[in-house]
Amino acid sequence: MAKYRSQNWFGKKGKDGFIYRAWMKNQGIPSHEFDGRPVIGICNTWSELTPCNAHFRELAESIKRGVSEAGGFPVEFPVMSLGETLIKPTAMLYRNLASMDVEESIRANPVDGIVLMCGCDKTTPSLVMGACSVNIPTIVVSGGPMLTGKFQGRDIGTSDIWRFSEAVRSGMMLQDELLLAEASMCRSRGHCAVMGTASTMAVMVESLGLSLPHNAAIPAADARRKVLAQLSGSRIVEMVKEDLVLSKILTRKAFENAIITNAAIGGSTNFIIHLLAIAGRIGVDLTLDDFDTLSNNVPLIANLQPSGKYFMEDLYYAGGLPVVQKELSKLLHNGCITANGRTVGENSANETCYNRDIIASVEKPFSKHSGVAILRGNLAESGAVIKPSAATEKLMTHTGKALVFDDIEDYKAKIDDPNLDVDENSILVLKNVGPKGYPGMPEVGNMGIPGRLLAKGVTDMIRISDGRMSGTAFGTVVLHVSPEAALGGNFAVVQTGDEITLNVPARTLILNVGDEELKKRKQNWEPRVRLQERGYVHLYQNHVQQAHLGADLDFLRGGSGSEVTRDSH
Ligand code: FES
Repeated sequence: MAKYRSQNWFGKKGKDGFIYRAWMKNQGIPSHEFDGRPVIGICNTWSELTPCNAHFRELAESIKRGVSEAGGFPVEFPVMSLGETLIKPTAMLYRNLASMDVEESIRANPVDGIVLMCGCDKTTPSLVMGACSVNIPTIVVSGGPMLTGKFQGRDIGTSDIWRFSEAVRSGMMLQDELLLAEASMCRSRGHCAVMGTASTMAVMVESLGLSLPHNAAIPAADARRKVLAQLSGSRIVEMVKEDLVLSKILTRKAFENAIITNAAIGGSTNFIIHLLAIAGRIGVDLTLDDFDTLSNNVPLIANLQPSGKYFMEDLYYAGGLPVVQKELSKLLHNGCITANGRTVGENSANETCYNRDIIASVEKPFSKHSGVAILRGNLAESGAVIKPSAATEKLMTHTGKALVFDDIEDYKAKIDDPNLDVDENSILVLKNVGPKGYPGMPEVGNMGIPGRLLAKGVTDMIRISDGRMSGTAFGTVVLHVSPEAALGGNFAVVQTGDEITLNVPARTLILNVGDEELKKRKQNWEPRVRLQERGYVHLYQNHVQQAHLGADLDFLRGGSGSEVTRDSH
């Protein structure tokens, strides 16, 4: 039997081995479990404060069963869990902190392989980032999407929150109805049922090859989710024996596959920021422009909200992600190895599509527009992002006057002012919601439309910010402007009344103000960022990178491997 890293603990003789094993035995573990078999860490983000992951203790039991069945020794441990809906000021602020917890927990403990239990938005990238910096065999088990919400005879999901909110503001929906909708939407275990960030992340791990096929779409409430968890538990034991470490799966080609697949399914813009951070950890050279170049000719073939009509549950019944990959086979690197030891092409070759209204073919797609467009110009010198499939066609080329909000509080104070000087051609600009400025880059980029325009029936207008947008949101929304306002670039000095030109086909975002005037404004510019003096936020504000680099902490890029050379016993 090969000697695994866990034997540096459990295989020791004398006092050290006694200490390492004796306390573990208080859990009722017999001696033969320490005989050198692969020890599999189950990295669990269960928390009642992360409702999307609240079923993970039960799911972990299925993983353990699989590990034991394959001759491994399962050990479950908790890591910081980021619940998107409850954490203030924004879960994104803590993604990097959670990744540090994951990285250090793996390296410090006697584990030979890892199962990452991911679900709600940030619980996927934080776990994958942390695991990449250790680079031992790793497989992902996602918690699965919720069943589709049912309200007043129709299907609803997270994207409807934005519609309900505007309907209540414009008087089209009663408060009591809103309460009913609230009870109807999240009616089962699992994460958001639309192609929001959690589903996008689940698709990302499957398309990178980090999970078994079908991990992305099996509903959380479907018994087959437990089957997948058990099979993943068995598979990670084999991966340890094969030494199939993360870096063998996460090649540049695997990242390209993820970008192409994300475009085809209409995934969230948050995908960009998380994939860039993951690439930075594993040492793959990936840039913002890769997302535009690689998704340029990829059509939208999954008809899922918010870009389309259906929900994740429907995607599974139509054949799941392997069918999407089969349709994309001419565009993908089919030879990439995946967690089950088979290639992307082998995993998808024999799959069947059961509903062409949900998964279309590349030849007859739902839309020619997919993926993201990367914008550049004097208003976004290091880049900005727009999701064309979620935008209004006629606004993709547009010049308008800026209405600037200096921060989110300024926006909230003014947006429903009946005297606000704004019309449907205006461009809303929200500053100081970037990584350092807010801090934590919250999902406020799809800011609501001014009340007086809503009343006139306006449903979309151009909105620009240095923040992010929920993967469940939609609209002509320019995000991730880099450098952010807090750093004092051109975006920091844009003023109400300035003319801005957005040209998505030309990939430009231009502030029509002369260089001399911009220079003058910068000389008088004063930062609004409130720097924290202590704690994690202090560390974050001093080290967070800009959005176009993935917003990781600068000193966390790369990895430190799995070796621990010092021993205190
Ligand atoms: Fe957890 Fe949407 S709130 S996935």
